[in-house]
Amino acid sequence: EAGRLLFAGPVTFLKGVVDMSGLPPADRLEVCFAGRSNVGKSSLINALTGRKALARASNTPGRTQEINYFTLGDSRYLVDLPGYGFAEAPKPVVARWQELMRSYLAGRVTLRRVFLLIDARHGPKAVDGEIMTLLDRSAVTFQAVLTKADKPNARDLAAAIEATKTMLGKHPAAFPEIVVTSSETGRGLATLRAIVAELS
Ligand code: GTP
Ligand code: MG
Repeated sequence: EAGRLLFAGPVTFLKGVVDMSGLPPADRLEVCFAGRSNVGKSSLINALTGRKALARASNTPGRTQEINYFTLGDSRYLVDLPGYGFAEAPKPVVARWQELMRSYLAGRVTLRRVFLLIDARHGPKAVDGEIMTLLDRSAVTFQAVLTKADKPNARDLAAAIEATKTMLGKHPAAFPEIVVTSSETGRGLATLRAIVAELS
């Protein structure tokens, strides 16, 4: 109910940020959406907020290159992080991304939870484990969110959940509950909205 009310309120794109000096004032709680390129971060933000084209979603991996800030009512920021693990990204781009992520994750005091998105068709990859290690070191609680759950069959989905559980077990900053979602069918969205609303 709290989640429904919060997400029914106004949502706006605030700004795209390319370095730490561009971050908006840390005057409210925020959650961010992290994950490999194309995992469905922008689509999930659109689905959660019911705004079709709020966060850009596309078929072109690596499209979201900035940290995009959205305001949710006047009490939360939703943050769309640039995707990682895009094989064709040039080295300097990857290095800049890593540096920005490190400073953001370690230095943002109002960041309450990272939603770490994992494609339900493939389960977690090594690069997801690397990000989890970075989150452990930054002491930021993260929660695994499986995306595109409308795609795999029941057996493959169960395998992806199992593999995710196994990986989470190795990471002290992991929140134990996994949220299974689909931006297409709406599965799991109410659960995520409630989590965002109830953070304190
Ligand atoms: P980057 O910004 O490039 O890192 O990508 P992203 O993680 O923001 O992914 P995006 O939301 O742009 O989605 C990538 C592709 O996956 C698009 O073609 C979406 O339509 C598709 N997609 C996203 N979520 C779902 C889902 O729940 N189900 C299905 N079937 N497709 C999805
Ligand atoms: Mg995106």
